[in-house]
Amino acid sequence: MQIYLDTANIDQIREGAKLGIISGVTTNPSLVSQEGTADYEAVVREICSIIPGPISVEVLVEGVEPMIEQAQLISSWAPNIVIKIPATSDGLEATSALAKEKIKVNFTLCFSLNQALLGALAGATYVSLFVGRLDDIGHDGMEVVKDIVEVFAHYKLATEVIAASIRHPEHCVAAAKAGAHIATVPYKVLMQMLQHPLTDVGVARFIGDWQGVSRK
Ligand code: E4P
Repeated sequence: MQIYLDTANIDQIREGAKLGIISGVTTNPSLVSQEGTADYEAVVREICSIIPGPISVEVLVEGVEPMIEQAQLISSWAPNIVIKIPATSDGLEATSALAKEKIKVNFTLCFSLNQALLGALAGATYVSLFVGRLDDIGHDGMEVVKDIVEVFAHYKLATEVIAASIRHPEHCVAAAKAGAHIATVPYKVLMQMLQHPLTDVGVARFIGDWQGVSRK
């Protein structure tokens, strides 16, 4: 399973990139708006220059034609941009058109297997299942991820499944076990994935024991 960072924060992306395990980034208008700038293009271009992998960038308009036009514009900003299109009727139509133009689409805001299946049939490169938001309303988001992975594999659909709206490290464990191709995680969760108290205790003990003997 690949790990993407789910953020538009440049500092977090730079820090994450240093670890050498980040394959891509997903952003959305809410995440970009938290960065305190109205310059969408500048933020996107900077992210694309830091991470060479796929960078998902959402359209900011509704309607088939406006979405297609904006997708064409945004995808001209950098070669590694993937356009996020919402799982609506207009979004599906736009996804089909963009896929024909070889513009990569992340069919986003998916909450069901049916939405993901339609996105894949339209030619989306990725579908994003929002696990945490489903959990929030009492559903089991990861079960849906598991079902999508199984169905895509059964029908040999090339579309990759992104486990999105990840809230805690256990979601990453469950996403990997469910067979998600990608988990897109907030920076805080990425750091939590690495933390273990026994590792910290172990490092301190190894260093302490060695210092004890080397001082003799
Ligand atoms: C995914 O691409 C979205 O940006 C993100 O995972 C949404 O997560 P949230 O439910 O925490 O807003």
